[in-house]
Amino acid sequence: MILAAPLQGFTTAVFRRAHWETIGGVTEYFAPFMRLEQGGLRKKDRYDTDPARQGDAPVVPQILVQHYEEGKILVEYLRETGFRRIDFNFCCPFVKVVRAGYGAAMADTPERMRQVLRLTREYPDIRFSAKLRLESVQHAALLRDHPLVFLTLHPRGMMQGYDGVPDRAAYEKLAGQSACPVIYNGDITAPEPALQNVMIGRGLLADPALPLKWTGQTVPATLYRPFLDRLAELAMAENGGLDYLKTCWEYFLPAFPKRCRKKILKSRTAEEYRAAVEAGFGEWQTVGDGADA
Ligand SMILES: Cc1cc2nc3c(=O)[nH]c(=O)nc-3n(C[C@H](O)[C@H](O)[C@H](O)COP(=O)(O)O)c2cc1C
Repeated sequence: MILAAPLQGFTTAVFRRAHWETIGGVTEYFAPFMRLEQGGLRKKDRYDTDPARQGDAPVVPQILVQHYEEGKILVEYLRETGFRRIDFNFCCPFVKVVRAGYGAAMADTPERMRQVLRLTREYPDIRFSAKLRLESVQHAALLRDHPLVFLTLHPRGMMQGYDGVPDRAAYEKLAGQSACPVIYNGDITAPEPALQNVMIGRGLLADPALPLKWTGQTVPATLYRPFLDRLAELAMAENGGLDYLKTCWEYFLPAFPKRCRKKILKSRTAEEYRAAVEAGFGEWQTVGDGADA
């Protein structure tokens, strides 16, 4: 099972849909976390999970909550919207989030975590999963008490953010203690046959065809083109589309010709952007195993 990780600002509905329609190979796409603001849903969260914008992509919304009541509001909303999969975020290390007691900080308040996880029993028609960080491993028994379809572990500590060495031993430990499958997440940039279940974030942005390579397929550079074209088409139809596309190039295709990447970042119109991408593909013959070009 290959899962597409949530990355706020990158793996938007536009990205998920374009990837699913042109490359795929992903079992589920996780939407960046949604949360309440002054007791209500944020407009951007409604927009990103609007069913009309998902196409046929298998999308899992993720919720960042601290209390049962907050969770209930978001679960009810998503259920009414038609979702039957929801992920709990117990992993976010961003300072503001952690200071407020959310995300990775939930490991410090296991009783709250237990209250939030009550939702898994109250909504048996919804399949829940949870995304964890190193600190959550100590709560393996608590997690085992709840009907979760799987756990995803990003085995870095809260203070590490997304840098430093992931603790693969902690992943093995949790996998050994868990009643449900445990998915590994962290720094995957190439197929690893030993890992059956993975969630890929930055590695999927760098190489959107990674899920296909996992199954041994050789991927020509031309395969990225329909993805980039569809992404541009969907993004440009929205406000801020060009800026969004430029942001994505922070991670996209490191082997793409540098000169054309610069042009992409400098483009001021949809036409300039498209011309820069076109020129890049003209220069980029094959990427095959990702090592050339
Ligand atoms: C800019 C950025 C935004 C992220 N947003 C989220 C998020 O909304 N929810 C979440 O669970 N993880 C989020 N993450 C963490 C990623 O899902 C993933 O766990 C992390 O990047 C490590 O995996 P990778 O090495 O495959 O990228 C974010 C990470 C980054 C760098």
